[in-house]
Amino acid sequence: MEKLLKIGIVGCGAIGSSLAKIITSDFTQKAKLCALYDIDMQKVYRLSAELKLPKLAVLSIDELIRKVDLVVEATKSESSLEIAKKTLISGRDILIMSVGGILGYEQELRLYADEHKVKVFIPSGAICGIDGLKASSYSTIHKVILTTIKPPKAFIGVPYVLRRKIRLEN
Ligand SMILES: NC(=O)c1ccc[n+]([C@@H]2O[C@H](COP(=O)([O-])OP(=O)(O)OC[C@H]3O[C@@H](n4cnc5c(N)ncnc54)[C@H](O)[C@@H]3O)[C@@H](O)[C@H]2O)c1
Repeated sequence: MEKLLKIGIVGCGAIGSSLAKIITSDFTQKAKLCALYDIDMQKVYRLSAELKLPKLAVLSIDELIRKVDLVVEATKSESSLEIAKKTLISGRDILIMSVGGILGYEQELRLYADEHKVKVFIPSGAICGIDGLKASSYSTIHKVILTTIKPPKAFIGVPYVLRRKIRLEN
């Protein structure tokens, strides 16, 4: 039987929770979810209870890294670089969701990855259809319209919203 890829998720918010559910429902032949971590431990306990896998909760990123082959970062851009470095130095692969946080540091991460013989995965994700765009760019692209729909609460704490004193609850 093929060896299962051991995965740990850092950040149990919207993306981390969705990924955890998909891994444990649709990818059991390929992967095993082994650990969950969040700075807000309530979220970890809530998600592991929802998955009916209470043993997944760990108390630190270091503990999570030790248990897995692949770390999935799903936190925020301010944290992703540090999490990525820590993971790569520990000899684990990483999938980075908060890609904005590693802008300008790609070469540094590549060096860490090469040195420790591990991989960095960067999904195109929210910019859906980027593969289509690449293909279209062989011709001429006149215009691209990207429409993103998010619930207002997704913007709570965002600097622009705070600066403009926008009250999202209203
Ligand atoms: N690449 C893509 O396609 C794509 C798509 C959507 C979202 N994202 C990004 O993924 C990230 C997660 O998005 P989300 O919608 O799940 O956000 P969310 O706010 O719902 O969840 C983020 C979670 O990370 C936790 N967290 C924050 N800092 C942490 C840290 N240092 N260590 C551990 N946990 C920490 C928070 O407590 C929260 O539970 C965001 O950076 C978002 O921009 C990427």
